[in-house]
Amino acid sequence: MIVRPMEPADIPVVVDWMLATPLWQRYRLTGAATRAGFERALAGGDLLLVADLDEPAGRACGLAWCLRQGMFGRSAYLRILGVRGEFAGRGLGAVLLDRAEASLDEATDALFLLVSDFNADARRFYERQGYVRVGALPAYVLPDVTELLYWKRLGGSHHTEGGEASGDIR
Ligand SMILES: CC(C)(COP(=O)(O)OP(=O)(O)OC[C@H]1O[C@@H](n2cnc3c(N)ncnc32)[C@H](O)[C@@H]1OP(=O)(O)O)[C@@H](O)C(=O)NCCC(=O)NCCS
Repeated sequence: MIVRPMEPADIPVVVDWMLATPLWQRYRLTGAATRAGFERALAGGDLLLVADLDEPAGRACGLAWCLRQGMFGRSAYLRILGVRGEFAGRGLGAVLLDRAEASLDEATDALFLLVSDFNADARRFYERQGYVRVGALPAYVLPDVTELLYWKRLGGSHHTEGGEASGDIR
């Protein structure tokens, strides 16, 4: 498996499998809005990593998208972590999350994310990756779903005096 920065040519590939994923169907994801979101994210310098597998349909078959200061103007926010359905459960998600954390590590103090209350598999996955549940947002996105807020401290700037987010800490 190779993990690499997302490129514009990956966008239609990723959007294609995301639209086929039951989770995002429930959130009524649309192709046009999702493509536009990725284009803005690439242009704006968000952290976007994709995973390639050397097998059919393996190109850009996993994605991690992080907003570098998406939480409280200070910490990173994992906007999307996903793996193409047929490749789930083979370790791609864990590798992508590890690589995203490593890329963010020096620049931020923590990574936050939201998980749907019904997504027991993903909750177990994130808990195993060291994420701790710190909150719940009832009906935040969908009226019948509670979004669970998780976070994990990273090694970056929480050691600095004053807590100002900064990359030059040592
Ligand atoms: C959640 C997800 C990113 C994990 O990546 P992955 O490569 O499948 O996971 P790994 O192989 O590294 O780890 C395996 C764990 O992932 C979780 N998992 C496996 N298949 C999954 C699936 N279809 N949906 C959700 N989680 C799954 C389970 O917790 C599994 O652990 P288990 O063996 O105890 O059941 C991926 O399965 C996925 O994209 N799922 C659908 C979309 C989603 O739920 N994204 C997270 C939204 S916050």
